[in-house]
Amino acid sequence: MPTHSFAARRGELEEYFDRTAAEAWKRLTSDAPVSGIRATVRAGREAMRNTLLAWLPGDLSGQRVLDAGCGTGVLAMELARRGAEVVAIDVSESLVGHAAENGRKQGGKQPEFRVGDMLDAALGGFDHVVAMDSLIHYGANDIGAALARLAPRVRAQLLFTVAPRTPLLLAMHNLGKLFPKADRAPRIVPLADAALRRLARGSAALAPFTHAADHRVGSGFYTSHAYRWVRG
Ligand SMILES: C[S@@+](CC[C@H](N)C(=O)[O-])C[C@H]1O[C@@H](n2cnc3c(N)ncnc32)[C@H](O)[C@@H]1O
Repeated sequence: MPTHSFAARRGELEEYFDRTAAEAWKRLTSDAPVSGIRATVRAGREAMRNTLLAWLPGDLSGQRVLDAGCGTGVLAMELARRGAEVVAIDVSESLVGHAAENGRKQGGKQPEFRVGDMLDAALGGFDHVVAMDSLIHYGANDIGAALARLAPRVRAQLLFTVAPRTPLLLAMHNLGKLFPKADRAPRIVPLADAALRRLARGSAALAPFTHAADHRVGSGFYTSHAYRWVRG
């Protein structure tokens, strides 16, 4: 069972990504023109996706991959193109519908797109789990618990991103408090590298994993830090 705080935040994210920001998110993740700030975010997100993809084998035939919090499915489609059996899940029905429609338009091997919680144990085991920017809105303890829930079902690699603790993010976080709650995106919760490593050390489920690499992408208003944890 997810913790109360995880479930509460997941509900806010569903509201935000399914209704409040669904159209803006679809546009950001397409190649339609966007304003300057959004263009830097788009460029940063592309660099992040490429980082995560570079940590995965070029040929994923016969491998099962979870795209945890798949959004509009851009990463999931690339994984399917590499031959993976992809389960792409998101709590936003609207984004999953859009992802599946885009997938059909592009053709080729399709991910299995699902609406639901990325931590659902009924999804089964995976060779690789990728969670790009889908944990960044959760608090440190919930991120640790989420990784620990995924870990026993991961055979090879757990790839994920967190929001690093940078002055810009802290400033944005504080600025966010000035706005009425209804106007705010669910806040991004920065997590320092040392805190993440502490969470990993304190978790028996995460003990079989070795920190293999990490990489930070900073591009305008986009900052995210990727981790590659490998079993063994
Ligand atoms: C910032 S977006 C990133 C989407 C996608 N990974 C990408 O990089 O384009 C975060 C996504 O995570 C999804 N999400 C957050 N918590 C989730 C959960 N517990 N289960 C499934 N999806 C979740 C949100 O609905 C949202 O689509």
